[in-house]
Amino acid sequence: MPVPLLDVNAQNLILEDELKSAFERVLRSGQFILGPEVVSFESKLAELAAARHAIGVSSGTDAILLALMALDIGPGDEVLCPSFTFFATAGCIARTGATPVFVDSCLSCFNLDVEDASRKVTQRTKALLPVHLFGQAADMDAVMALAARHGLPVIEDAAQSLGACYRGRSLGSIGSFGVYSLFPSKNLGGFGDGGVLVTNDETLADKARMLRAHGAKPKYFHKYVGGNFRLDPLQAALIAVKLPHYEEYTQGRRKNAADYTAKLQKVRGVAAADPGDSCCVEAPKRGTSDAQILLPEAYGHNRHIWNQYTLRVLGKGRRDALKARLVEKKIGCEVYYPVPLHKQECFAYLPSAGQPLPRAERLSLECLSIPIYPELNDRQKDEVVGAISDFLQEGR
Ligand SMILES: Cc1ncc(COP(=O)(O)O)c(C=O)c1O
Repeated sequence: MPVPLLDVNAQNLILEDELKSAFERVLRSGQFILGPEVVSFESKLAELAAARHAIGVSSGTDAILLALMALDIGPGDEVLCPSFTFFATAGCIARTGATPVFVDSCLSCFNLDVEDASRKVTQRTKALLPVHLFGQAADMDAVMALAARHGLPVIEDAAQSLGACYRGRSLGSIGSFGVYSLFPSKNLGGFGDGGVLVTNDETLADKARMLRAHGAKPKYFHKYVGGNFRLDPLQAALIAVKLPHYEEYTQGRRKNAADYTAKLQKVRGVAAADPGDSCCVEAPKRGTSDAQILLPEAYGHNRHIWNQYTLRVLGKGRRDALKARLVEKKIGCEVYYPVPLHKQECFAYLPSAGQPLPRAERLSLECLSIPIYPELNDRQKDEVVGAISDFLQEGR
């Protein structure tokens, strides 16, 4: 039985009537740039994110760029970010003219190794840009302590983590800015590109709003050189239809993750990681002696929203072999991310490009994400688990 990596129709088409009427409402309103649909969506998002201000923007990428611009980051500045993340995190830093400084990652939670970050702070460092990868928080106490020691703002890339928490605090609302993506594969998946920038700081919010529309206030009076980073009202109206179901989507993903972990940890060769508090140390694993696959762990103090369920497949070439097997069986899977950013061609000019980041490099060889979308049913999960199990037993 084929199992897709993601099935957007399973989530969207049951809302077809409501989506059509949202579309018709916007069509008839004749307002296609900003206006009440965007304002209403922003206030709902601010509530969901537990932040005072939410600014609807054209993508998660543009939200990062806007945050950097609002903090006046530019040429001569350095911004610390993980190497093991989606390109946009560092791409936006480079687009401001600043230098991304790549930091290694934790093998247990896949997030920023804060100790490595602390070694890389210099006089030129102007911000920290941690990512909450795959739906789980980076070690925010350590990030915020490092930022406070050096007086640095923090931009949380929570593109994959809307509604996830760190010690009860909503991700994105802890630093100076938080960024969410509404890309269709995200937990709150839109109907095209979209994003949201959140902050608790009114001055920063005002500046970001101005920068979103060419840095002008009022119109045609430009205080800053901004851009066109606006969220469309049509997009806002359509995604607003999904918002009341967001908690249900999250619960579906959390259940799927729990089911995978329960089933996979019984398979010989799979080690379940003990959820522990340790970050940036390999947490103790049960039965690791002959482990070929390590399961992702949700730390006890985090609310994980499982944008991805990411396995680590150990052994040279084994991740690619498992991927090939799943593809052959028509089971969707993806490598997030095959090349760490410090190894990307476009960043070869950076002084840090040649420096090894052993954990980021290792993760890019071992990680494989399997289907986790909320509508996945038990038979589909069994199919995935069965295929992984067969692969491991044949390899013995
Ligand atoms: C970690 C991370 N940062 C930033 C982005 C950029 O978001 P968008 O695709 O909405 O521009 C993404 C989306 O893929 C992401 O996963």
